[in-house]
Amino acid sequence: MTDPAFDADTLRERALTTLTTARARTTLLTSCVEEPDLTAQHSPLMSPLVWDLAHIGNQEEMWLLRAVGGREAMRPEIDGLYDAFEHPRSERPSLPLLPPAEARHYASEVRGRVLDILESTAFHGTRLTEAGFAFGMIAQHEQQHDETMLITHQLRKGPQALTAPDPDPVPLFTGPSEVLVPGGPFTMGTSTEPWALDNERPAHRREVPAFYMDTTPVTNAAFQAFIADGGYDTERWWTPEGWAHIRQHSIHAPLYWHRDGKQWLRRRFGVTEVVPPDEPVLHVCWYEADAYARWAGRRLPTEAEWEKAARHDPASGRSRRYPWGDADPAPEHANLGQRHLRPAPAGSYPEGESPLGIRQLIGDVWEWTASDFLPYPGFQAFPYKEYSEVFFGPEYKVLRGGAFAVDAVACRGTFRNWDYPIRRQIFSGFRTARSAGDV
Ligand code: AVJ
Ligand code: FE
Repeated sequence: MTDPAFDADTLRERALTTLTTARARTTLLTSCVEEPDLTAQHSPLMSPLVWDLAHIGNQEEMWLLRAVGGREAMRPEIDGLYDAFEHPRSERPSLPLLPPAEARHYASEVRGRVLDILESTAFHGTRLTEAGFAFGMIAQHEQQHDETMLITHQLRKGPQALTAPDPDPVPLFTGPSEVLVPGGPFTMGTSTEPWALDNERPAHRREVPAFYMDTTPVTNAAFQAFIADGGYDTERWWTPEGWAHIRQHSIHAPLYWHRDGKQWLRRRFGVTEVVPPDEPVLHVCWYEADAYARWAGRRLPTEAEWEKAARHDPASGRSRRYPWGDADPAPEHANLGQRHLRPAPAGSYPEGESPLGIRQLIGDVWEWTASDFLPYPGFQAFPYKEYSEVFFGPEYKVLRGGAFAVDAVACRGTFRNWDYPIRRQIFSGFRTARSAGDV
């Protein structure tokens, strides 16, 4: 028990840093537009930004002030308003929500009291406080809503409100387009990562036969070839549900794309620009990813294949925390944390590659997998069923790896995201795979 990473001062510092980083982003995302844009609903798929803001504060109050700190509810009358299960997103604008100034005040009052509790918390004794779990969970929750709010900003019509520098240009990637991941068992999930959420647990062995994995995510240029080849008009590339969905909704290209003569343009955070050919394709639903893969003579990787590609070290046989090893993500490893407001070109981040040379598994775009969102053997809901358990089942597909929009604290080799196969307002892309037996 002398691991310095688990010493109380280190844990306190880490909790403070991650909470503070999250709040800085939340503040930016809720202060870069005028009040009417905070209370408006920019899409029926999303909450008003002011709902996310107070919900962030309310979850923090529930878990850090009440559950960890044993405090009384500050404003019990608002709990129902910010319970995601009581009111679907589409209803939230008609609720008597706290106006922006009050929502800000509430979230900052909660935070002030949390910092007092953090001073006196012992990071052991209860499962909730062990290694600072509850603080990590709440920092991740805030960062997840910062990604949700960035999705809302992208959906919002109107002029640009957010800016960020572009990723550094890179030489065109000239490595192999796919690599063989050898067959055999590997350890999936984790029982030791202190801030891993319930659905990532426990660690367990999985047999994964040999397969080939794309070394980079599928690019806009590759996706445009699928479109140019009539991909959206050819029923045989699509599952029956996918075909029905794109017909019914007249889907012919990724979300935010439109055609201007010979070229494809896209709208990104209020600016219209030419779709960059070398960048990973973004804003496609699972059905589009799946159809593209079939057109390419390939398939989406399963979730287990994705994690084996990202974590398995063939030299040691161990599963590592990230493709590059066990070190926490740094800017040279991956495009994370809204540092940029777009994915980096395919082949970027050579320092983040896996032992087999697979790039950009972490960051840039969430990657659709072939798999349904299901519990691992031995799963136990913790600390609440509504984080993962109520979502398990075949209606959700798993996404892995995290996008430019998610912070490192909410992104790991084991981290699991999920959504409906029709969703594409999320920062979703994909890569493809094939079984090693296939030609
Ligand atoms: C893990 C992204 C699917 O946004 O619904 C936020 C994260 N859970 N508040 C979601 C979450 C509760 C969740 N996803
Ligand atoms: Fe939430």
